[in-house]
Amino acid sequence: MASTPSEIENQGFNGLTVAAFESRMAKEMEDFITRNGGVPKVAPSLREIPLSENKAAFQFFENLQQGHVDIVVFMTGVGTRTLFQALEAHYAPSRIQKAFKHAALVARGPKSIKALTEKNMRASVVVPEPNTWREVLEALDGQRPVKGLRVAVQEYGISNPEFLTALVERGALEVTSVPVYRWALPEDTKPLIQLIEAILEGEVSVALFTSAQQIRNAFEIAGTLKKSQELKEAFGRMVIGSIGSVCSEALLELGLKPDLEPEHPKMGFLVKEVAEKSFELIQKKAAQAIQYKPREPKTLSTAPQDSLFLKACRKEAVERTPLWIMRQAGRYLPEYRNVRSRVSFLELCKTPELAAEVTVSAQEVLGVDAAILFADILLITEPLGFELTFNEHSGPAIHNPFRSEADLKRLEKVEGEFDLNYVMKAIHLIRSSLKPHIPLIGFAGAPFTLASYLIEGGGSKDYHQTRSVLSDIKVWDELMKHLVNATVSYLNAQIAAGAQAIQLFDSWVGILAPDEFQRLVLPYLKSLIGKLTPGVPIIYFGTQTAPFYPWLKDMGAGVIGVDWRVDLDKAWKQLGNVAVQGNLNPEILLTNPVKVRQETEKILRLAGGKPGHIFNLGHGILPQTPMENVHAMIDTVKAWKN
Ligand code: CP3
Repeated sequence: MASTPSEIENQGFNGLTVAAFESRMAKEMEDFITRNGGVPKVAPSLREIPLSENKAAFQFFENLQQGHVDIVVFMTGVGTRTLFQALEAHYAPSRIQKAFKHAALVARGPKSIKALTEKNMRASVVVPEPNTWREVLEALDGQRPVKGLRVAVQEYGISNPEFLTALVERGALEVTSVPVYRWALPEDTKPLIQLIEAILEGEVSVALFTSAQQIRNAFEIAGTLKKSQELKEAFGRMVIGSIGSVCSEALLELGLKPDLEPEHPKMGFLVKEVAEKSFELIQKKAAQAIQYKPREPKTLSTAPQDSLFLKACRKEAVERTPLWIMRQAGRYLPEYRNVRSRVSFLELCKTPELAAEVTVSAQEVLGVDAAILFADILLITEPLGFELTFNEHSGPAIHNPFRSEADLKRLEKVEGEFDLNYVMKAIHLIRSSLKPHIPLIGFAGAPFTLASYLIEGGGSKDYHQTRSVLSDIKVWDELMKHLVNATVSYLNAQIAAGAQAIQLFDSWVGILAPDEFQRLVLPYLKSLIGKLTPGVPIIYFGTQTAPFYPWLKDMGAGVIGVDWRVDLDKAWKQLGNVAVQGNLNPEILLTNPVKVRQETEKILRLAGGKPGHIFNLGHGILPQTPMENVHAMIDTVKAWKN
């Protein structure tokens, strides 16, 4: 007999398989699911680290006792209590009291204030509600500026990198996070792996989350299996219940929309309410799946599509020639050197707030027509399985280079959105602070140049090792295919995050003979470009590529970057029906404003006002370039009338 919808509703989950990630409360969760008509699949996803193992807290306390901490910020009431509990397990109360007298105490919100009062301690800076980290910062600025001071921040649960970065930016001498409560993965991760596999196999219809950390740990495990993207897609097809707003935010951060939050943030309510609505929610999901159309890339809706730069990429007529500068956020720029004086290059790349700051400030200081993401073509080598460092003097180095067939096994799959998540976060921040009409260029190294870095382990004069790997066509083919897949995943993630154009840097490809380029490079470039999200202009830039021009127009890139060793008009003629970008010799910018103006105008004249010219240098700007000359170039391009 067919059941009516209301009968089905009354049966709750009606036999659906329901996943949950409960640890301490696993048994209760199973019971709830069963009682509501579901088949539970529960795997513990986290482990509380015992207080007695809290090394960070003890290290902090030793520093505090020795007078090495000037300010302690208490972020939460629970965290404050937990920190004292941990310390009391090791130290006498009188000693704790004495040590905290060495520092100024800052309490965020009434709960932290209360927790300190319980210990007979008083905060000298209190931050009443609303009390996000921004208000904490404001209170510090007004009452106790952190410049030159050593600040410790008690954190509960996950860290708050934006706050820590903001303290560093205000000139704090030292900023340490004191995590008093940390969630680790369970000791035995097998059940969690099995649950994730069942989800990937489509065996589970509903997922219930009761904490943000459950989501992060599930994805951490999926990441080790290189299945983060698949897991995200699988969750996207399932019904997802979230206990409350913090949990939902963690889901949204991953691009997953929870289907239901219960009226009260309690496990029992969550299970019951999702069970009651599960039939309806599943039907809704199924209907969405049928109607599913690939989403237009974000760029098409939010992008400044009528900006000078994007119009020129599409070879549309523009009021004036657009320009930007390769390596525009670099050491020649005082704003860059200022940020860079406080962090290493890799730290800068991996701190989204700082990477966004240097990207946006370069565009604003220069007044150029596009911003380029601050990152490096070598960042992807880390998730590929290589060890990368940047030395202040000798430049980048890869310490375990690729040398032969045996190294193919070492190559790891790259899931751009997850493995280079810090880049995606930087793009989100850049897009939210960049002027809306300024497009953002994302980028990656082209497979040949990337491969040569992996093989040589750094810069090279003779490319001897690269030539040796090239000569084994099977190994080369496999390496290039792997790099193409990794780069496609990385670039499509950049596009989804908000990049409106992509540049491929093939800085070293000019060492090849034309027929080598045609056989060993071109097919991979075509395949890569063909797999990128459509509708986003692709710029292919290489140096000494003139002998390859006859092939470049068919590669799929709409814009070709031209180096400074060729005359722009001749290059364009050979390249045919594409847009071109270039090509002032960066060394001209070391001369003087008069010379810069002349040489800039020469290039503009050669371009002849034809639609599809983007002014740029013929290679990256040099660190010793005077700002005066940069401005002379920019002003000349902006004033030029065709
Ligand atoms: O253009 C921009 O402003 C965006 C950022 C960007 C950087 N590197 C930042 C960077 C881009 C697009 C790159 C690309 C890149 N990186 C290329 C291709 C372009 C080219 O110049 O041919 C290459 C070959 C690399 C690898 C790399 N990164 C080298 C060889 C070096 C050391 C040499 C140098 O210029 O210092 C880097 C470091 C690097 N990448 C810096 C910057 C701003 C300087 C690091 C510092 O601050 O000390």
